[in-house]
Amino acid sequence: MRTKVAIIGAGPAGLLLGQLLHNYGIDNFILERQSPDYVLGRIRAGLLEEGTVALLDQVGAGVRAHAEGLVHEGIELAFSGRRHRIDMKAATGKTVMIYGQTEVTLDLMNARKAAGLDTVYEAKDVRPHDFDGSHPRVTWVRDGVTHTLDCDFIAGCDGFHGVSRASVPASAIEEFERVYPFGWLGILSETPPVSHELIYSNHALGFALCTMRSMKRSRYYVQCSLDDHVDQWPDDRFWDELKRRLDQEAADSLVTGPSIEKSIAPLRSFVAEPMRFGKMFLCGDAAHIVPPTGAKGLNLAASDAHYLSSALREFYDEKSSAGIDAYSAKALARVWKAVRFSWWMTSMLHKFPDTGAIGARIQLAELDYVTQSQAAMSSLSENYVGLPF
Ligand code: FAD
Ligand code: DHB
Repeated sequence: MRTKVAIIGAGPAGLLLGQLLHNYGIDNFILERQSPDYVLGRIRAGLLEEGTVALLDQVGAGVRAHAEGLVHEGIELAFSGRRHRIDMKAATGKTVMIYGQTEVTLDLMNARKAAGLDTVYEAKDVRPHDFDGSHPRVTWVRDGVTHTLDCDFIAGCDGFHGVSRASVPASAIEEFERVYPFGWLGILSETPPVSHELIYSNHALGFALCTMRSMKRSRYYVQCSLDDHVDQWPDDRFWDELKRRLDQEAADSLVTGPSIEKSIAPLRSFVAEPMRFGKMFLCGDAAHIVPPTGAKGLNLAASDAHYLSSALREFYDEKSSAGIDAYSAKALARVWKAVRFSWWMTSMLHKFPDTGAIGARIQLAELDYVTQSQAAMSSLSENYVGLPF
C-alpha cells in the first residue's frame, strides 16, 4: 500500500489535517488505535476560536457548528465574591464558539467518510519507520496481520501518549515541561448553564469554571487534588463544592442534576522541539500540551494542521521545500504564545499549594487590574479569541 501522507491518530489534528490535504488533492491515510465510538466518547475541549471554525468551513465540515454552536462575545471572571465581564468582541472584534470536541470530531469523521478516504480504526502496534531515511513507512497490526503503508511523509497526530514522538531518538528532541500540582474534576449534566457566558472563578477553595455544551447541557469544572478519584466525588459533593466557589447570585441560580460524565484531568504545560524529524512531522498534542484554562489545546491542534497542510501543498504543487522546512518554527511560534497564555491564566486563577497568602493577594491584584485596565482586557481578549495564524 502507498499514500503520500500517512497520518497517525484520528483526533481533531489528524482528521482536520486529512481533510485539508484532501482539499489540496493530496492523498492521505489515517491509522487510529481506538474505535470510532471510543474516540467520540472522550469529552474534552469545548471552545473554538474563529480561526478553527474557519478551517472547519474550509473543509466543508462547519455547517453543524454554525447551526448548533453558541457564539460568545465575552467571558466573566469571578473573584472576591463578584463577577466582572470582559467584552472580547469590543476589545478585538472577534468572538468564540462553544461547540464540543466530540461534535468537531464527528463532523470531521463524517466529512472523511463522505469523501471515501482511507481510515483504519483499531490499528494495533502502529509504528513509524525510516522517517530519517529515504523509505518512510508505517506498519500496524489488524486482526493479527501486519500491514505496511509506504509514504512520502508521516504526520504524527497521535496525542501526548502517542508513538510518533516516542519514536524520535532522545538526542534529536528537546522537551520542556511543567506539571501543575492539581487537576480538574469535570462533569457534564443535562441542566441549563448557570450563565449565558463562561465564568472563570478564582476562590480561596480553588478554581472553578462554568461552561456549557448547549442551552440544555452544562459542563462544570472544579480544581481538585491530584490524589482525588472520581468515586470520592458523588454528584452532591461536586455541586456543593462548585456553589461554594461561585458568587452568591450564581450559586443561587445554579441548576443541579445527575452527572452524565465525570472525569479528572491533570494539568500540564509541555512542548517538544522541533516539530519535524526528517520526513515525520508532529501535530497537535503529540508535540505540545497546555493546561485547559486558556481553552487552547484543540485550537492549537487546528492551527498546526493548517500550517502543515499549507506546507505540504507547497511541496506538491510548487515543488518547493520552503514550507515544510519552515513548519516547525512557524507552528512553535504560535504554540509558545499559547503556552504562555495558558500558564498565565492558570497562574492567575488557581489555588497553588506553595505560594501562600502573598501569592493569593497578588492574584487578586492581578484580577483587579485585568478587569479594570483596557490594555489588560485587550491583551487577555486577543489571546483568548486566538492569535492570528
Ligand atoms: P488527541 O485528541 O489526543 O488525538 C490523538 C489520537 O491519536 C487519539 O484518537 C488516539 O487514540 C490516537 N493515538 C494515540 N496513540 C496512537 C497510536 N500509537 N497509534 C494510533 N493512534 C494513536 N483542551 C481544551 O482546550 N479544553 C479542555 O477542556 C480540554 N480538556 C481536556 C481533557 C482531557 C482529559 C484531555 C486529555 C485533553 C483536554 N483538552 C482540552 C485538550 C484537547 O482535548 C486536545 O488538545 C486535543 O484533543 C488535541 O487533539 P489531537 O488530535 O492533537 O490529540
Ligand atoms: C471549556 C473548557 C476549557 O478548558 C475552557 O477554558 C473553556 C471551555 C469547555 O469544556 O467548554
